[in-house]
Amino acid sequence: MMEKTSDFRVLDADPFNGGTPPERLAESYLTPNDVFFVRSHAAVPAVDLATYTLTVEGMVSTPLALSLADLSAAGERFARRRMVAALQCAGNRRVELQTLAPIPGELIWDTEAIGNAEWGGVLLADVLRAAGVALDAELHVAFEGLDCVSAKDELFGGSIPLRKALDGDTLLADTMNGVPLPPAHGCPLRVVVPGWVGARSVKWLARIIVQDAPSDNYYQKHAYKWFPSDITAETVDWARGMMLGELNLNTLIGSITPAAGGIIVRGVALAGERTVEHVEVSADGGTSWTGADMLDPASRYGWRRWEARLMLPPGEVEIAARAWDTAAATQPERLEAVWNFKGYMNNAYHRVRATV
Ligand code: MTE
Repeated sequence: MMEKTSDFRVLDADPFNGGTPPERLAESYLTPNDVFFVRSHAAVPAVDLATYTLTVEGMVSTPLALSLADLSAAGERFARRRMVAALQCAGNRRVELQTLAPIPGELIWDTEAIGNAEWGGVLLADVLRAAGVALDAELHVAFEGLDCVSAKDELFGGSIPLRKALDGDTLLADTMNGVPLPPAHGCPLRVVVPGWVGARSVKWLARIIVQDAPSDNYYQKHAYKWFPSDITAETVDWARGMMLGELNLNTLIGSITPAAGGIIVRGVALAGERTVEHVEVSADGGTSWTGADMLDPASRYGWRRWEARLMLPPGEVEIAARAWDTAAATQPERLEAVWNFKGYMNNAYHRVRATV
């Protein structure tokens, strides 16, 4: 399949799913498209660009049917925007949670399911205003893609609250790192909900529906839900649970390389809708910490790469990393603290073993 590098980590060939190898995670501020993770629940749909139409319907006064020309006519109807935002799958870092108990039926990601890109497109808020959306904070904006997930006999979809849709940052993107969206990433149009779990950034977008409740789609109503730690696959009531939205504070170790007298640790950190303030690493299980240098400026939605040098005697060592955000919050220490039976949102200290 497709336009990915030879070291791209493939987790599943059909549908194609995979991501960035750890040593390349913090290589550049923007993750190149050919190593950017792919999370797809079905095959890439065939889209005829000539007849492609995005509809905006539901609780709006003027339903719209927009062609690609309508959407991209520079500056005519909708102003074009560019925004750097990290995208992360809610299941990233599931492999660590699986050391506590099996998590059947899910992709077992290590740190591959995250990337940072510059997205270009038009604001969802502008399109919703053009459709005469009701300004009611209780409404929801549902998205539907063109890919049919055969096991569910359903198109992929999801929703976000209207207040997020109108925040002036959520994009209908047609470019990724300066080029048209590659097929695997949603060509010709996708949603980018910055600071939120990747599942809401619906690819191959075809319908936007304004409605008075969250989407009924399987991937909103059933999957991508968070349950408290005492709930199990046997006791779960799917009508309960929290529909995942904003991402939590997280930091991921990418590479650990030898340096004179020690090691250099590099990684990335992100903070949902907040901003990463500081990252630190520990070589003694969290008793003492060394501050990392932040390699990128503070950004609301883009990640910040970081680098720390540790002087260490030769031997085996476990490196732990944690970030702090602008609310002075940091990450939980232990995996047990973040356990949920579907294995979402793991943001415990990231620990990686290395040899000095
Ligand atoms: N949109 C559609 N139409 N189909 C999908 O399977 N997967 C979602 C989201 N949008 C998905 C989708 C999930 S779970 C994630 S994490 C992101 O897309 C991944 O985006 P990417 O493949 O561009 O990295």
